[in-house]
This record gives sequence, structure tokens and C-alpha cells, in this order.
Amino acid sequence: MEAVRVTVVGCGYLGATHAAAMAELGYDVLGVEIDHAKRESLAAGKVPFYEPGLGDLLADHVAAGRLRFTNSFEEAGAFGDVHFVCVGTPQRPDGLGADVRYVDAAVASLAPHLREGALVVGKSTVPVGTAARLAATLPAGTELAWNPEFLREGHAVQDTLRPDRLVLGVASERAERVLRDCYAPVVAAGTPVVVTDFATAELVKVSANAFLATKISFINAVAEVCEAAGADVVALADAIGHDDRIGRKFLNAGVGFGGGCLPKDIRAFLSRAGELGVEDTMSFLRQVDDINLRQRTRVVQIATTMLGGSVARSRIAVWGASFKPHSDDVRDSPALSIAGQLHLRGAMVSVFDPQAMEPARAVFPTLDYAETALAAARDADLLLHLTEWPEFREVDLDVLGSVVRRRQVVDGRNRLDADTWRGAGWTVRALGRS
Ligand code: UDX
Repeated sequence: MEAVRVTVVGCGYLGATHAAAMAELGYDVLGVEIDHAKRESLAAGKVPFYEPGLGDLLADHVAAGRLRFTNSFEEAGAFGDVHFVCVGTPQRPDGLGADVRYVDAAVASLAPHLREGALVVGKSTVPVGTAARLAATLPAGTELAWNPEFLREGHAVQDTLRPDRLVLGVASERAERVLRDCYAPVVAAGTPVVVTDFATAELVKVSANAFLATKISFINAVAEVCEAAGADVVALADAIGHDDRIGRKFLNAGVGFGGGCLPKDIRAFLSRAGELGVEDTMSFLRQVDDINLRQRTRVVQIATTMLGGSVARSRIAVWGASFKPHSDDVRDSPALSIAGQLHLRGAMVSVFDPQAMEPARAVFPTLDYAETALAAARDADLLLHLTEWPEFREVDLDVLGSVVRRRQVVDGRNRLDADTWRGAGWTVRALGRS
């Protein structure tokens, strides 16, 4: 029997990782990417964004000839038995819903070139109902499945090769069999497999992200109560986290969630629930979103108070620009949003991030970008720690103390050792702790 050949349509974070992972599992893989620069970079074995571990995996498989890239849907259709659709579904420019035009375009471009028996597998996060709609557009003799992806940026390779679970939304036993075969090494490693219908598979993904977002906003709301009551949200999270019905993960209070998934996914979920006539039941997600955005305003307010009522003409150092550590993604980043708000209020803001300087500069070119964490802090009246890169915790406090104008820090991630910093003469403000 001929070996299964896989295509991956859309080679961003999700697609590039999936393509490399499929090659790692032993398949011949063809990535379809219409962006010229991205495709050239990938074809040369270079990942056009920062993702630990992905560079080596991609370079190895490109060099071995197992992983190639094209912009031709015709070539993809002729090549593949299984086609994974991994294009983005950003928030619509004109509303809260997800913009599915790239998914629609990918399937429409692929459809006329599919071989008899081909399986198109959606991995993108889509509004429930999309898979059923797209299935009806495929030619006879081909089939659709929906297999949502749960990878986290910064852990993308591990999450793809060793996921917590595989969710297979299928309309036939054959589609299930093809997907199980495709993921055979992953299944053999003991990964739980949930086989279900299209609608459930689509909803699993948005529900997972909505739950994670809710958990973060819950602890951020409690953090504000802790501050008002003189309690400590970190100790509180540790204590409630010991209850394994609750769990300690995603209970880190701070400046909140950002990135290309959680914010837009809760809005899209809300929007789709509205279209389905069940908006009321999901309306708490509006509050989850509001609590999250409120954290950014709170940091601006705290900074204003620490600087005597106005940030205008003060020097503020911002450590972190990416939405989380081990990523260079600045989409909806709380750190960059706070830096921007302070700049617009007249502060002189100097930003440093170990990986996200270029993407940050592209989004917010008017901020000052420093070469190092220490350079950003030079002459600062206030330091904001907004993305918890490990190197920020390892800084020499004596040296740092000697370059700033005033030893004041806001720990927006509750990850600095406040006692050590206070011992070195710093005034420390955190979120949800006194
Ligand atoms: C998320 C989901 O975790 C993943 O399963 C899905 O496939 C895509 O969306 P990602 O966007 O990479 O992944 O980031 P994640 O690690 O979930 O973090 C999201 C945001 O929440 C980050 O800004 C992070 O800083 C923040 N966060 C996370 C908190 O503020 N507190 C926490 O306790 C955890």
C-alpha cells in the first residue's frame, strides 16, 4: 500500500507546527502557503516566528526532503490523501464574530483538485456549523472531518506530538479510521481520543478556550478583592489550586490574557451563541472579557498613582512586549497595550522584550525600544514587569538599582520575589497582593 501523503494548508503557527509534526510522524508532507515571504522562509528550513524547538524539526525534515512547500492548490490536490486546513480565523473587522473567509477560501481552492477518496480535515477554530456548511461544498467521493487543535504557543511542538487529547469530529467510520491511522503513533502513546460529530468538535475548541479565559478572569476579579481586603491572591490561588477539582493552572493573576486565540475566541463564541438565539446563557463571557481588559487599565492607574497623579514626562521602563513568555507574538498583548496607553498619556516609555522587539515595533513604532532590559530601565521613574520572561527574574538588583532614577516596580505577573526586591530598596506593587 502506498504511504499516506499529507498536505497542510496555511503555514502560520498552527500549520507550520502541524506540517513539521506530521513529517516527524513519518509522512511526506506538502505545506501550502500563499504568502511568498513566509513560504520562502519555510522552504529554506527557517521558521518565520519564534517557537522553541520548531526550527530544528522543520530544518531536519526540509533537509531530508520529507517536507516541502508550495503555493499551488492544484499540486496539493494531486499530492495529498489527507489535507489539514490550518488557516487563521481572526476576529472580524466589523464585529465580534470570527472571520472565516480564509477557511472558506482554502476549502474552495482545494475542492476542484481533490483526488477520489481525499479527506479534508479542518483544524482551524471556527464557529459551530462551519464544518457542516463546508462539507456540503466538497465534491462527491471526498469527505470532510473536523479535528480542532489545542496547541499553546511556546509549547507548540510538544502539544502537537503529545497532545492532551485528540478530538475527531467525523461523519463516517472511514473518516475516523483515516484520522486514527494518521495519528497512529500519537494514539499508540496513550493519547485519549474523543470521536464525535462536527458540531461538538467545533464547540469543544471554543469551550476549552472560554473555560481557560474564565479561569483567568475569575482569579483576576478575586485579585482585586484581595487588594481591597489586604489578602494575597498568590497564596489564595495556591490554596484553592490544591483542590484537584479546581487545579492550580491558569490561576495566575496579573495583567490578563492576550494573544491570537483566547480574546477572539470568547468574542466569537458569544457572537455565535447570539446567532443561535442563546446569547443570554453565554453573556458571562462579556464580563470575562471586561475583567480581562480592566487589568490593563488598573496597571495604568497604579502607574499614575505611583508617579504622583500623572505619567506625563515620566520615564517608564516596560519589561515584556509579547503576550506571554517564550513567544514573539504581540497580538492583543497586555504588555504592549499598557505600554501604548502610557505613551499616549505623555510618558516616555522604553520597552524591552527578549524576542518580540521587531513584531512590537511593527505594531507600535512610536515607543522607544531598548537593546537590553537594563538599557530600558536607565533613568526610569518606574519599572513595569508585564511579561514573565525568566531573564527578568535573574536580573542583578544592585546593577538595576544603580541605573534607574527611582526604585519602583509594578509586578504585573506576580512573578518577582517581592521580599528580595524590597530588601534591595525597591517599592513593589503587585496585582492582588499588598
Ligand atoms: C491558548 C490555549 O491555551 C490553547 O490550548 C489554544 O490552542 C490556543 O489558545 P495560547 O494563546 O498559546 O494558547 O496561550 P496560553 O498559554 O493559553 O495563554 C493565554 C494568555 O493567558 C497569555 O496572555 C497568558 O499570559 C495568560 N495567562 C495564562 C494568565 O494571565 N494567567 C494564567 O494563569 C495563565
